[in-house]
Amino acid sequence: MMGAGRGESPGGRGTDGGSGRLGMYTAPLRGYGPEYTALASARWLASRLSGLVAKVGAGAEARLLAIEGERGILGPTHRAYAGHSADQNREIWTEWDWSKHGNEWNDGADPAAWKKSLIDEVLLPLIPEGGVVLEIGPGGGRWSEILQPRADHLVLVDITDRTLELCRERLAGSTNVEYVLTEGSKLPEVLDASVDSVWSFDVFVHIAPLDVSSYLLELARVLRPGGIAVIHHSGRFSRSSGWRSPMTARLFANLAREHGLVVERQFDNWGDGRFGVRTNGDVITVLRAPAAAFETA
Ligand SMILES: C[S@@+](CC[C@H](N)C(=O)[O-])C[C@H]1O[C@@H](n2cnc3c(N)ncnc32)[C@H](O)[C@@H]1O
Repeated sequence: MMGAGRGESPGGRGTDGGSGRLGMYTAPLRGYGPEYTALASARWLASRLSGLVAKVGAGAEARLLAIEGERGILGPTHRAYAGHSADQNREIWTEWDWSKHGNEWNDGADPAAWKKSLIDEVLLPLIPEGGVVLEIGPGGGRWSEILQPRADHLVLVDITDRTLELCRERLAGSTNVEYVLTEGSKLPEVLDASVDSVWSFDVFVHIAPLDVSSYLLELARVLRPGGIAVIHHSGRFSRSSGWRSPMTARLFANLAREHGLVVERQFDNWGDGRFGVRTNGDVITVLRAPAAAFETA
């Protein structure tokens, strides 16, 4: 008579390192002989241990990121952080179902009122009319369509061809829009000191810290003296809710200052606290390029 489990394929249930007690797992393998049973058990144990090691490592990484973030330093853990990469972002947003044009991210109990309040109480008062306006990560163009008629020239920079194409369709007929593809941390084709204002919403929340730092350096390069940038970014790291990259208000402000920008304001709510970006612990930072030094004769 065939031994218990001999009829099972070695690649079948029980040899894949899945869950279950060791005894339950090894019993059907005994018919394969002692060497097979010992090795399969060792493999099961190794897979359980590697899962545990990965969990401990992820927990330690999250705590190290939190400590660096609280202190506002781009320390070794932020520098080594491998998530939220440009490649990941490119893949996710290329594959995204854009049929709702990004309005699926409108927040609050009344998403339409939230969106209107963000436009009326944040975007319109902070982004001046006219001039060259730059938007980073326009997606389906839910903010671009507000910015376009107000700007003399609107530059849309995104990491995917797909979203730039969507914006081209949405803003078809507009003659003041330029579309720029980026590798994920630079503003190619945007000239030094050529931009009056920058808007970026729901983008930096997903960008890795080193790429955020690179973009801040780019903002310092492209903004005209006195120009303004309004950037929505993460305020805390979360793998679970909202796919937030590691960042804090303090670290973002320190990076901006390090790159020569002035931090004017950081806030997470508006409209007397009725609206905000607090659901995922986010922050909006208002930056300004220093005014040109007064030249004496
Ligand atoms: C969540 S969507 C938000 C789109 C739009 N800003 C909105 O609020 O509806 C993120 C957008 O940022 C773009 N993006 C992601 N990573 C980027 C990066 N490193 N540089 C530029 N754009 C990026 C994506 O392609 C996508 O258009």
